[in-house]
Amino acid sequence: MGNLERPIGIFDSGIGGLTVARHIMEVLPDEKIIYFGDTARVPYGNKSRETIERFAREDIEFLLRFDVKAIVAACFTVSSNALENIREDYNIPIIGMIEPGVREVLQRGDIKRVGVIGTTATIESKAYENALKRKIDVEIYAYSCPLFVPLAEEGWIEHPATYMIAEEYLRPLKENRVEAIILGCTHYPILKGVIQKVMGEDVLLLEPGLHAGMILREYLEEKDLLSSNNGGIEIYLSDTPRKFNEIIERFLGGMRDRVLGIEKVRPFQSPCR
Ligand code: DGL
Repeated sequence: MGNLERPIGIFDSGIGGLTVARHIMEVLPDEKIIYFGDTARVPYGNKSRETIERFAREDIEFLLRFDVKAIVAACFTVSSNALENIREDYNIPIIGMIEPGVREVLQRGDIKRVGVIGTTATIESKAYENALKRKIDVEIYAYSCPLFVPLAEEGWIEHPATYMIAEEYLRPLKENRVEAIILGCTHYPILKGVIQKVMGEDVLLLEPGLHAGMILREYLEEKDLLSSNNGGIEIYLSDTPRKFNEIIERFLGGMRDRVLGIEKVRPFQSPCR
């Protein structure tokens, strides 16, 4: 296969990373994407750093079988807990979700009070705090919102229970009058409407997936690796969970017709752990 036509690999702990894949397909419509979702071992967000790193390495190894030209770690838990260690062991670029979030805050220029929400592992890693503090002087308020993940998968988008939970989780961010919130988890864009209503219209909601697509595009342009006629996404899952088709549809938004195929794979010696 010619260098340009090699696919882009995207991986996540499960199906959630399709919210990131969606942005990448918008920004790079002619690229072929190989998506791997580790649905047999999801969630990663409550696991130890060692386990998250081990799983991430195995996910990357699976994608490398497709001779991918770049990899996007769509999983924020992986990006925050494992990517720094992992990157140096591979000689293709691996784009995570931390840099794009930081870049968006920097580009806005005038933000002084930033909220970060994510899984427990993402928030405990302090990855966004550390990366932001290295660049600018901002106040950061970071909180985990673990129940947002099952609510997004269940499709409880406008449900009263979702509003109640969002009010509870987001209260400290409101009290601290944040001007922007980094949606630091694959699932949170699904609940953007609820988060916006609870926080009020003036608070900016930042989606790192969008900027990840732009960073990837810049890299491919710089290396002359842009593909011209390959567009579409092949989805590989380590398990086909209940209602997976419905969830794929919701997370891909209008991009469902770009799916070239969905396949269950058993890439690991012991698929469950
Ligand atoms: N994909 C994960 C993330 O973005 C959320 C689901 C999980 O906990 O694995 O952090």
